[in-house]
Amino acid sequence: MVEFSLPKNAKVREGKTWPALDGTKRPKSLRVYRWNGDDGETPQVDTYTVDLDDCGPMVLDAVIKIKNEIDPTLTFRRSCREGVCGSCAMNIDGTNTLACTKYIDEVSGDVKVYPLPHMPVVKDLVPDLTQAYAQYRSIEPWLKSDSQPTPGKERLQSPEERQKLDGMWECILCFCCTTSCPSYWWNGDRYLGPAVLLQANRWIQDSRDESTGDRLDELEDPFRLYRCHTIMNCTKTCPKGLNPAKAIADIKQAMVERR
Ligand code: SF4
Ligand code: F3S
Ligand code: FES
Repeated sequence: MVEFSLPKNAKVREGKTWPALDGTKRPKSLRVYRWNGDDGETPQVDTYTVDLDDCGPMVLDAVIKIKNEIDPTLTFRRSCREGVCGSCAMNIDGTNTLACTKYIDEVSGDVKVYPLPHMPVVKDLVPDLTQAYAQYRSIEPWLKSDSQPTPGKERLQSPEERQKLDGMWECILCFCCTTSCPSYWWNGDRYLGPAVLLQANRWIQDSRDESTGDRLDELEDPFRLYRCHTIMNCTKTCPKGLNPAKAIADIKQAMVERR
């Protein structure tokens, strides 16, 4: 397991312990990070207890149950609940992952639930991703081409060209990898981080894109790309089983080849 440090505004104190609901047969406690910038208080960890006999199997099920039945002020993001939207990314039991695909049973003892580490927090489990999305926008994540496709035809790829995108198109931009990367923790204002670099490589490797040179020029910088020091937390933590460290290595390789 990769242990990560706390969110940026964390100096956490013990918070409230909420009683279990009446009739709870198989109790499981969750220790959940709480912070609300409006009340001027330091962050705290609240303890909630759910009944595993009356709750879905995933950590997200428990968090939703807490919000619906115990404490409606608990704030978090979620949408698809099946690992495809990336919005429920949290730090659970010390590891960045998706709450909707993390089984409660995988955690022995209390389930510690924190926001993604080293990001500003908007409220409770909601990280502020403004900078990460601005960095994503900076790599121009769309097909760039001056030539016109043959009228009435799509821009075709061979099976081999299409295969080069495997391991990248599956990325759901959850930022579990980026927020696990120590280089990003310390230089996130200038280093793009593994999620955005994997996305950059997705377009660099696309046979239909005609801006490969410009894309590499944009990344040829001591910070934007070369702050990756092959620490590998990103690949270890990706909940989709992707390998952003390899994508970064591929970009570095493309830099060498074009010289
Ligand atoms: Fe999330 Fe994995 Fe994409 Fe990183 S590479 S943003 S961890 S899906
Ligand atoms: Fe960070 Fe992954 Fe590189 S953890 S330093 S982006 S290999
Ligand atoms: Fe969409 Fe978890 S709710 S990935």
